Amino acid sequence: MHHFQFRNGELYAEEVPVRKIARRVGTPFYLYSAATLKRHFQVFDQAFASIPHLVCYSVKANSNLAVLRLLAKEGAGADIVSGGELYRALKAGIPPQKIVFSGVGKTAREMREALRAGILMFNVESLGEMKLLSRVAKRLGTKAPIAIRVNPDVDPKTHPYISTGLKKNKFGLDVETALEAYRLAQEDPHLEIVGVDCHIGSQLTQISPFVEALRRIKDFIRRLEKENIRVRYLDLGGGLGIVYGDEAPPPPKEYASALIKELGDLEITLVLEPGRVLVGNAGILVTKVLYYKETPTKKFLIVDAGMNDLLRPAFYQAYHEIVPVIQKERPEEVVDVVGPICETGDFLAQERRLPLPKPGELLAVMSAGAYGFVMSSNYNSRPRPPEVLVHGDEFYVVRKRENYARLIAGERIPDFLR
Ligand code: LLP
Repeated sequence: MHHFQFRNGELYAEEVPVRKIARRVGTPFYLYSAATLKRHFQVFDQAFASIPHLVCYSVKANSNLAVLRLLAKEGAGADIVSGGELYRALKAGIPPQKIVFSGVGKTAREMREALRAGILMFNVESLGEMKLLSRVAKRLGTKAPIAIRVNPDVDPKTHPYISTGLKKNKFGLDVETALEAYRLAQEDPHLEIVGVDCHIGSQLTQISPFVEALRRIKDFIRRLEKENIRVRYLDLGGGLGIVYGDEAPPPPKEYASALIKELGDLEITLVLEPGRVLVGNAGILVTKVLYYKETPTKKFLIVDAGMNDLLRPAFYQAYHEIVPVIQKERPEEVVDVVGPICETGDFLAQERRLPLPKPGELLAVMSAGAYGFVMSSNYNSRPRPPEVLVHGDEFYVVRKRENYARLIAGERIPDFLR
């Protein structure tokens, strides 16, 4: 459930007409609903209320400080994958003891920063990383809390670019190598084993791959126990899917019940790293129609948001529903909704049946709260759009639109060209 609804033929975000915000901030812009974010977090968190658990929001999905602060106030921890995300999470007030650090390419500097901050655990993805982490901890005179990311070799049945728990993916360690890594860590005075980690992919619409992964991790924990290696945390990653079009992902309650059942009597704190399911449907991208153009074979609606603003359609052929902000009677047409970028792949929708809007009208690209702004770029020297947060009948620009000066900030013409 989200708070972007039509009232008398006009799209509202909570109590605010989207058209009003567009008038104030211009287009394109990202728009988030505080009520939706809060609700999504609470529903997810409460689904696990019967067991010890920690919800570490996956910052990569939407890392705006205001979004992070809102979730922090609800009790969220953070799943981070870089020093930059650590910086954001701490700035937003997420307690370090609720932060887990994932990712295959952590640098020594990032490790130092996270150790100094006192995070909950590093989800270690290779033997090389584990060695470096131990050295960095030693130099700081401390012990690094670790979980090892196990690749359970489970097919998440999602888009190949966002499946991560298959043997052929770059993530984690296979079970046997992971076991070896735990033995090494056990002997290392600068590492403290605290957990086991896994994450099998994103936008999963079935429960069974999660349950299968959990079953394999449970077996793995039993093997560790036989070697007197104990863990307190089982981090199952994120990945629960959302509705973009006609998917039917399980609601958080069902997902949680299946996991809780599979956990059985295992005494452990379950860590979850949801991203998309918390923020995806809490955000939209609002864009303006610039032109309508017909070629001998196709019809194009050219809008002022492009693949640099929302990459998902171009990158994954992802489906995002597109609706006119003001509903009117008009003929339907099958069109490609395309942006201003000089790439054939620059589209928000292909072959989409839409009530044909006129130039100047506003369109809402739905379900754009996750992996939207965070994957935007300045390609074609386009300033990135602002992010706006609605709260009841108020709205706040939580990231301002970039300007031209910002585009070239940091660039220098060297002396020999003067
Ligand atoms: N934990 C780890 C270790 C991850 O790699 C990810 C996502 C998550 C948690 C959160 O997954 P979620 O709950 O959001 O599915 N850009 C792609 C998605 C990439 C996901 C990367 N990892 C997209 O736009 O669909």
